[in-house]
Amino acid sequence: MTKSHIAVLGAGRMGCGIAQVFCAAGHPVALHDTSSEALAKAPETIREYCRLLDVDPGAAANLRCARDLEDAAAGADVVIEAVPERREQKREVFARLEAATRREALLATNTSAIPIGDIAAGLKTPERVLGMHFWNPPHLVALVEVVQASRTGDDAVSRAMALLESIGMSPVHVRRDIPGFIGNRLQHALKREAIALVAAGVCDARTLDRVVKEGFGARLAVLGPLEQSDLVGLDLTLAVHEVLIADLDRSPGPHPYLRAKVAAGETGMAKGMGFRSWTAREASELEQRVDLHLVAAARARRK
Ligand SMILES: NC(=O)c1ccc[n+]([C@@H]2O[C@H](COP(=O)([O-])OP(=O)(O)OC[C@H]3O[C@@H](n4cnc5c(N)ncnc54)[C@H](O)[C@@H]3O)[C@@H](O)[C@H]2O)c1
Repeated sequence: MTKSHIAVLGAGRMGCGIAQVFCAAGHPVALHDTSSEALAKAPETIREYCRLLDVDPGAAANLRCARDLEDAAAGADVVIEAVPERREQKREVFARLEAATRREALLATNTSAIPIGDIAAGLKTPERVLGMHFWNPPHLVALVEVVQASRTGDDAVSRAMALLESIGMSPVHVRRDIPGFIGNRLQHALKREAIALVAAGVCDARTLDRVVKEGFGARLAVLGPLEQSDLVGLDLTLAVHEVLIADLDRSPGPHPYLRAKVAAGETGMAKGMGFRSWTAREASELEQRVDLHLVAAARARRK
């Protein structure tokens, strides 16, 4: 079967991971970045991701680095944009892409939060523009939210879903172009309550994270929240909601506690202080733990 030609724009954290999953599945990938330094590092990064997953690092031979956007996009069947999260920059990139690609090519953005419709505004062929929201790091996390904007064609969604499934990713169809799609809405709803609990002095940040990791988080990878409700019974969920929902945080914007932390420069591990204090060693141990966990899960999926 002929493999679709993929172009990935942006050779950063997300772009290199996205390029790796397509290279590993045997697709020719043209990777473009405006930074020659980022492009120079990309092939070794992709080989490193392959080794991590017991994939032949020779898969990086499917990669072609392109200094020029038009060169990367010209022969592409699918373009995935992973440049920084700036609306105007993405719009400029898509305007160039529309001119540089064949009309049948899919144009996908990996934006975390910018509405797909905003990125496609002003384009003549919005039916081929959609979101492909990979999770970080894309070579280890299988989920991709395929986001259909109001003018995205059904055919574009089906083609994107089929392509992602064919390379072992796990696409889901997000039927409306809403901020945060599905995953980030859920993640940040949880963070809103977590911050409110710490701000109110109910517990400290370490305790909060233990409750999640050692409590309901321990089963989240195998039991989604709606499955869990079905398991225990919706009548129980309703009874809990009757008592709880009105008491949950409903701040209309970011919590003042979060704003104060940022204003004080306490922005997280890189600064040694976020919701809690961090030594450099603790931060690096945590990163290693997360990587080990995700690598083990990704290897298990490949078996
Ligand atoms: N990092 C995450 O957790 C994550 C998760 C999901 C989605 N995203 C989204 O993916 C996108 C990329 O994020 P990232 O974390 O990989 O960023 P990054 O900063 O690691 O990489 C961005 C790359 O794009 C390059 N670049 C800048 N302007 C460019 C242009 N005009 N054309 C081509 N390349 C250009 C930069 O040189 C850099 O190498 C963003 O939209 C982000 O919101 C990020």
